[in-house]
Order: sequence, then C-alpha cells, then structure tokens
Amino acid sequence: MKRKIAILISGRGTNMAALLEACENPDFPGEVALVLSNVPNAAGVQKASAMGIRTAIVDHRKFKHDREGFEAEMQEKIEAAGADFICLAGFMRLLTRGFTDAWRGRMINIHPSLLPSFPGLDTHARALESGVRIHGCTVHFVNSEMDAGPIIAQAAVPVAPDDTPDTLAARVLDCEHLLYPHALRMVLDGEAREDGERVILSGEAAAKAASRAVLNPAL
Ligand code: GAR
Repeated sequence: MKRKIAILISGRGTNMAALLEACENPDFPGEVALVLSNVPNAAGVQKASAMGIRTAIVDHRKFKHDREGFEAEMQEKIEAAGADFICLAGFMRLLTRGFTDAWRGRMINIHPSLLPSFPGLDTHARALESGVRIHGCTVHFVNSEMDAGPIIAQAAVPVAPDDTPDTLAARVLDCEHLLYPHALRMVLDGEAREDGERVILSGEAAAKAASRAVLNPAL
C-alpha cells in the first residue's frame, strides 16, 4: 500500500512539484494526501490545487508566540488528510521538539547545501564566499535542530569560477528535483533506515552508493 504523504511548503513549491510528479508513477511507494502551507498565497499551493491535490493553509501569523498552537493545527490537518509521512519542501518555519519528536523517522527535509556545511539561509552566497569547489544539496531525516539530522542522500554540484549565487542556486535546484524523489523512494521502500545519527542503506540503494570521486577542477 502507498504511504500517504503531507508536503509542507512556504513558497514557490518546485520541490513539491517534483515530488508530485514522482508520485504520479504507479510504481512510486507514496502518494500525496496533502500540501500544507504556512503562507496563505504561496505559489506552490495554487500549483497543487490546480493538480487536484488537497491543500491547507495554517497561517503562522495567527499564532504569534504560540508555536505549539500553530503546530497543533498543522497536526490536525495532516491527520485529517490521513498522512503519516511528512516531506518539508522549502518550509521555512522552525519546528518545536514536540513536533519533531512526534514525527521522528517519518519526516524528511531538503536543504540546498552539503550538510553539515551551511545550514540556514543564503547557502549559495555563503558557499561562494567560503571558496568551496563542491557545493550541493542534502535530504535528511528531521531532528530537533535546524537543517540537521541523519543524512539520507546528497548531490554534489561543482562550483564554476564565474558562478553567482543565482547561477549556482539554479544548478543546485535542478539536482534537488532529482534527489528528493529518489531519497523519498529509498525511505518509503525501507532501503534508507535511521540508525542513531546516521542512515543505514540496504538493498539496491546500498548497491548503488556512488564510488567515483567528483574532482573540481577535473583531472
Ligand atoms: C529549496 O532550495 C529548498 O532546498 C530550500 O528552500 C527552497 C524551496 O524552493 N529549503 C531550505 O532552505 C530549508 N532550510 P521550492 O519552494 O521551489 O521547492
């Protein structure tokens, strides 16, 4: 049976769209039961409704100083949709330990850097400033810290000498759209299992762990 997923977003929802597209494949082990946004007119919500997906808004501004109240309402909507797995896809609110503990092992996030480098905002500008030759994105299980938790999958994106934050962001975003559905499938198939602070791969995922180095500059 397919797992029912809630996708939480705050903005344009391109990663959400990549997950929705993956879920259209009859072989994919999950289906999207809900797209929930904390921002009332997020472009992603319109995209999801246009695709016939159930959507919900829980506006965080109505819950000033009441993060528990905000999360309780999100929890209610997620339960009402019958979802038992959460994908954070550009959801830009910090979650309390109560919420992250309740969803431990059943909530994953995508972040535009090779964690643990560059958690937080402006990851592409910070990567360029730091001089790294290889940047990328990460899908991880969510724990109580921001942009942290056991790493499921990563994609490496070489930095070009003339990159700006925007050109680098665009190449990383393309990789995000490939990586997120791939990582979600591994988790739902039971091939990527949380084990303490790490993720253990098994089956096809383990066999496919890449073994070639990415050199930048190339040889
Ligand atoms: C994505 O780049 C995602 O990795 C990032 O927000 C963007 C959302 O874009 N998430 C974070 O920074 C989480 N800390 P999208 O709405 O087009 O998917």
